[in-house]
Amino acid sequence: MFALRTLFVALAAASVLANPLEVRQTTNTNPRIQQIIDVLDQSLHISGPNIVTIIASQTDNDQTITPQINDMVKAFNTSATDLNATPISSGSTATSPTNDELSVIFGDSLYITITSVSGLIQSDVPSLTSILAPLDTAMAASVTAFNRTLPGGLNLVHILMLDAQQFLTRQGLTKTRTALGFT
Ligand SMILES: *[C@@H]1O[C@H](CO)[C@@H](O)[C@H](O)[C@H]1NC(C)=O
Ligand SMILES: *[C@@H]1O[C@H](CO)[C@@H](O)[C@H](O)[C@H]1NC(C)=O
Repeated sequence: MFALRTLFVALAAASVLANPLEVRQTTNTNPRIQQIIDVLDQSLHISGPNIVTIIASQTDNDQTITPQINDMVKAFNTSATDLNATPISSGSTATSPTNDELSVIFGDSLYITITSVSGLIQSDVPSLTSILAPLDTAMAASVTAFNRTLPGGLNLVHILMLDAQQFLTRQGLTKTRTALGFT
């Protein structure tokens, strides 16, 4: 009797493990994705304008820029962790938040990040390359996590980033470029 119960438990566990696609097909996790990327977007709408203000006041240097980039890295790290912990969404094209609405929010987060760091130059910020490297890693991880949890969600983001990709190239943000599907 005990052995049989153990067998049933083991079989039940195995059938859950063997069927990960069922989650993908039945669960619309778009509302949770929206919560995660809203937090990301709000954070970047603080750090991004801060960087623009620092550049405009000609006080951009390693010391003033590093804390702002760190905040951006933390925000992208958190979003990647939270997205990867969210079940893959079946998505929705009808019920808000729709797939496209999510892609627009996420695209906005990337856009404000990329355009605000595009004004940074090495002659003012000598450690620029090493300051931006962790941002590139964190942003790329977030991009990959977004497309994991909202399959195909990057298609629209890619289009939204067509103009901004030149800044990714200029600032050496190569991991993010690749994660976004630019060759
Ligand atoms: C971001 O995540 C990376 C990789 O997990 C980690 O090495 C880094 O310390 C994190 N940075 C911040 C600012 O949280
Ligand atoms: C995004 O996800 C879709 C669907 O899973 C996949 O076909 C596509 O290759 C992914 N895009 C990137 C840039 O990884």
